[in-house]
Amino acid sequence: MSKVFDAAEVAKHNTKDSCWVILYGKVYDVTDFLSEHPGGSKIILKLSGQDATEEYDPIHPPGILEENLKPEAFLGTVDTATLPKPKADATQSQEEKKKKEEDVPMEALLNMDDIEKLATEKVSKKAWAYYYSASDDKITKHFNTDVYRSITLRPRVFLDCSKCDLDISALGYKLGIPIFVSPAAMARLGNPAGEAGIAEACRSFGAMQIISNNASMTPEQIVENAAPDQIFGWQLYVQTDRKKSEIQLARINKLKAIKFVVLTLDAPVPGKREDDERGNAAAGAGQGESGVGRQLFQGTDPTLTWRDTLPWLQKHTDLPIILKGLQTHEDAYIASLHGPQIKGIILSNHGGRALDTAPPAVHTLLEIRKYCPEVFDKLEVWVDGGIRRGTDVVKALCLGAKAVGIGRPALWGLGAGGVEGVKRTLQILADETATTMRLLGCERVEQLGPHHVNTRVVEQQIYDGPPGLDYIRSAYRAKL
Ligand code: FNR
Ligand code: LAC
Repeated sequence: MSKVFDAAEVAKHNTKDSCWVILYGKVYDVTDFLSEHPGGSKIILKLSGQDATEEYDPIHPPGILEENLKPEAFLGTVDTATLPKPKADATQSQEEKKKKEEDVPMEALLNMDDIEKLATEKVSKKAWAYYYSASDDKITKHFNTDVYRSITLRPRVFLDCSKCDLDISALGYKLGIPIFVSPAAMARLGNPAGEAGIAEACRSFGAMQIISNNASMTPEQIVENAAPDQIFGWQLYVQTDRKKSEIQLARINKLKAIKFVVLTLDAPVPGKREDDERGNAAAGAGQGESGVGRQLFQGTDPTLTWRDTLPWLQKHTDLPIILKGLQTHEDAYIASLHGPQIKGIILSNHGGRALDTAPPAVHTLLEIRKYCPEVFDKLEVWVDGGIRRGTDVVKALCLGAKAVGIGRPALWGLGAGGVEGVKRTLQILADETATTMRLLGCERVEQLGPHHVNTRVVEQQIYDGPPGLDYIRSAYRAKL
């Protein structure tokens, strides 16, 4: 029988010398863990002596507590009758609360803006700030969307457009739509259905989902109800403590639904996300404390290189590798020299959350076309960032992308209406994509090509310097 504590007794242990917390009705002594917590000690100390479940739950996957605390940290249970009544969210007005409880039919949401607006009303300020945030002045975040608006489409007419098929194949797998869900951390912060809810929605569309290394549910939970032919990838942030990543990879290797590993490279250190910092402070973390994003990056290794990291990864998984976050043709070219292990790349700037004023994926697509088009034959090129309309999806496909990812739209869908909200997001984008294809005169995705878009405006903006490929070629020849 474990010991049963009164809440008042637990409350006495609220200093860095003796720090207890209550999680899921259990009492833990986390004094020794304070210095090890990836999110810093301040946030734990703020909740010390109290029930921290509400804060803890949406941002920690199950099992992580047991992995990180020694067994003796568990002291006993709390007599729940002695716990103080939960306080109302201080950051929420009555009006805001009412809005959250209102049920808006998903069919009333017609586009990504409607979905984002409703999610903004429904999710906590902390979740909104984390999802919405991007680096510095959010120039890249906005440009990601705006750049698609400066590409015009070239519709062909007098063609039978009675049918339209959105099927594609990626990495040899058949997918129902060319839209995939990019890895995004902390889905349960926006809605308890979390990443498993996103998986359920993807299942209805035959859409691919990439699970974040920092998901708020375990990969096992996320793929648990997958359809037999449902395709998942798993995204890796290599940890400075390599053993941790090796254990994670061993777990992933065992999951049949996970077909590839995505190694994210564009955020070796997090960008400066001011909305996130403010949002976390408003939620009680205190001024000067970092945002959710920065906390998640604790432990991520900034020393990765082509030379050392790929051989290490090869030792720990046979799954195909997709590199995420490439933003120049030079890096796309280098990736193409690393077959057969590297099967694809995702042109991405992390939704503008890493380096502000970095180029959008469309620039990199055009750069690859200009300097090293052979990359498209050697690797699958996927893109993400700023996709908010079916026309955006189609433009990326026309320029050579095999598949097109959405980050925030899936999270906003989840925040707006749980599983149904993500389904609505995918439905709107799929319908818009089909309408665009039909109006271009294309029945199938493979028929889309560069002749369907006019990119003159964007071409003036892309990199125009020397290709820089001769040096890369000779360096690699010398090595091989
Ligand atoms: C991300 N992104 C991301 N990428 C990644 O490789 N691992 C991760 O854990 C996360 N986490 C994450 C959280 C949130 C809240 C956002 C918004 C984004 C980046 C993501 O995969 C993708 O590149 C961008 O979100 C694409 O831009 P859009 O679609 O959000 O404009
Ligand atoms: C983010 C991380 C975790 O963008 O990738 O917040």
